[in-house]
Amino acid sequence: MLDFLKQEMIDSEILSGIEEFRRRYPIKTTTLSRCPRYLYYGKAIWEQAAAALLCGENILLTGSKATGKNVLAENLAAVFGRPSWNVSLHINMDASYMIGTDTFQDGQVTFRPGPVYQCAQEGGFCVLDEINMARNEALAVLHSILDFRRVIHVPGYGELPLHDASRFIATMNYGYAGTRELNEALSSRFVVIQMPEISNENLEKLITREFPSMKKEYVKQFCGLFQDISQKCLGGEITSRVLDLRGLLDAIRLIQTGLSPYSALDMGISNKTFDSYEQTLIKDIIASRISPKISRKAVFSE
Ligand SMILES: Nc1ncnc2c1ncn2[C@@H]1O[C@H](COP(=O)(O)OP(=O)(O)OP(=O)(O)O)[C@@H](O)[C@H]1O
Ligand SMILES: [Mg+2]
Repeated sequence: MLDFLKQEMIDSEILSGIEEFRRRYPIKTTTLSRCPRYLYYGKAIWEQAAAALLCGENILLTGSKATGKNVLAENLAAVFGRPSWNVSLHINMDASYMIGTDTFQDGQVTFRPGPVYQCAQEGGFCVLDEINMARNEALAVLHSILDFRRVIHVPGYGELPLHDASRFIATMNYGYAGTRELNEALSSRFVVIQMPEISNENLEKLITREFPSMKKEYVKQFCGLFQDISQKCLGGEITSRVLDLRGLLDAIRLIQTGLSPYSALDMGISNKTFDSYEQTLIKDIIASRISPKISRKAVFSE
């Protein structure tokens, strides 16, 4: 992972900071987080996030869907050499799930630690996913964990100070269905990073890494297609429903499996809007980039 950051020309002081962090907090190999499935591309965001974590801050990643929030969070845990925990927050989330609760074991009441507790104990990176889906009252238990006190209160069991290497990374989509306003007391405990849409250059790198056998000219066409959709969204001609990098990657995967490009792009992109007028607009954008006649063979070299 560190080699990847060097390739991406991440600032050398930040890189040596990360190396120093890893030396200070060596980890048993058994608990090390898995090698991430995707790599996050975006130098500026890497530098902001890594610098914040080195300073001991917790970070809140905000941005629309498929801007790589979870990918970045996983990558950060791997680069810093820490185990990671993922807590998916939702309306029914409560403190006992996050921190832990009493349970019966061998006829005795014992404490069963929750993910936040385990993470704090082992010096892990905890991803608080979709933090604005939870009720603010449920999140109040995180206040003492996220500020200078760095301590977990467990009713009936006392306090657990956080391991020095523990960090919290929250993610959220602002304003989506089912989300709520984040309480100011909570947001003040994070530094906030606004996740941008991936750049054209980085998308080329991502597609080339994911689909090594795709021909160069098609890598360019698919990136162009994503940029076209992104431009139309910015211009307000279409809604952001169809601006979905995840959908584009799914479509390319379907093409690789042998499905015709048009059906694949409909499944991955056009059908995500349920408005028939918008669907025609999207299909026109696709048609301007990709010919209806092409097959898998034209796109991939093997
Ligand atoms: N800058 C980027 N670098 C690498 N991959 C990216 C980037 N932006 C988006 N992706 C890709 O987008 C897909 C979705 O990533 P991820 O799940 O992290 O998004 P997210 O922001 O958490 O989305 P959601 O808000 O829907 O949960 C992945 O396939 C990922 O590789
Ligand atoms: Mg996510």
